[in-house]
Amino acid sequence: MNEPLRDPTGPRPTAPDRPRNTNGPDRLPSAGAAAPSLSSVVEAFAARRWPSDAAFDSFLPDDVRAVSSRYWTPIAVAAQAACWFDEFDIHTVVDIGSGAGKFCVAACLAGRKPRRFIGLEHRSRLVVAARALADLFQVGGCARFLEGALGECALPEAQAYYLFNPFGENVYCAGEPLDEEVELSEERLARDVATVQDLLRTSPVGTFLVTYHGLGGTTPAGFDELRVAGTWPHILRLWQKREPGG
Ligand SMILES: C[S@@+](CC[C@H](N)C(=O)[O-])C[C@H]1O[C@@H](n2cnc3c(N)ncnc32)[C@H](O)[C@@H]1O
Repeated sequence: MNEPLRDPTGPRPTAPDRPRNTNGPDRLPSAGAAAPSLSSVVEAFAARRWPSDAAFDSFLPDDVRAVSSRYWTPIAVAAQAACWFDEFDIHTVVDIGSGAGKFCVAACLAGRKPRRFIGLEHRSRLVVAARALADLFQVGGCARFLEGALGECALPEAQAYYLFNPFGENVYCAGEPLDEEVELSEERLARDVATVQDLLRTSPVGTFLVTYHGLGGTTPAGFDELRVAGTWPHILRLWQKREPGG
């Protein structure tokens, strides 16, 4: 989909006031710790002192925050990816399976330059949470979220695709998936991995791919691994498609 996207090149977000109904006293990041203010988290990103995951996650709805350590990209990982986006001047990133928007919003806040992040997510409640998170951090012009399933709706063109093992849930044991709202099966896993591999095979030379904990299958031939960072629970990798025969 070549949908027009809003210009993200506005000023960097300033520290907004604490919004109502977020980060209240029942949302402390850890027992006995004071809840961080939204402005302190925004200022930490601006100063390149990455906030803790607990601090950032305190702005997510309770049920979404509860699964963060397993399902959402850690802040340090999003910040590393943002450094690569700066280094390679990647300005449009599509997060395939964007969940509650943590990667897109955190990478948007961590980057030195404004970028466009577009998340695709098939769970409606997570799209709602992601849009609320982007609004809260005043990055709605940079981070947008589309509701839909991979392969069932056109993806916007992007210089880079980001995947945090989005399809692994298809083969988790009973009780481990996020919910039962979407089809989860081995057949779907195979279908979704094949769709991503086709997307990458047909993407233009120069397309970047960033994976955290992999994409669920092999990266198609023709992609060179440019960077690897592995100090987190999983490995973060940056790839780029080279010229045929290159
Ligand atoms: C591991 S989470 C990563 C979320 C986000 N990228 C982040 O790092 O914070 C994977 C997400 O992909 C979504 N997802 C899985 N398969 C999908 C599909 N076929 N189409 C759209 N979203 C999908 C899931 O609902 C889940 O929210």
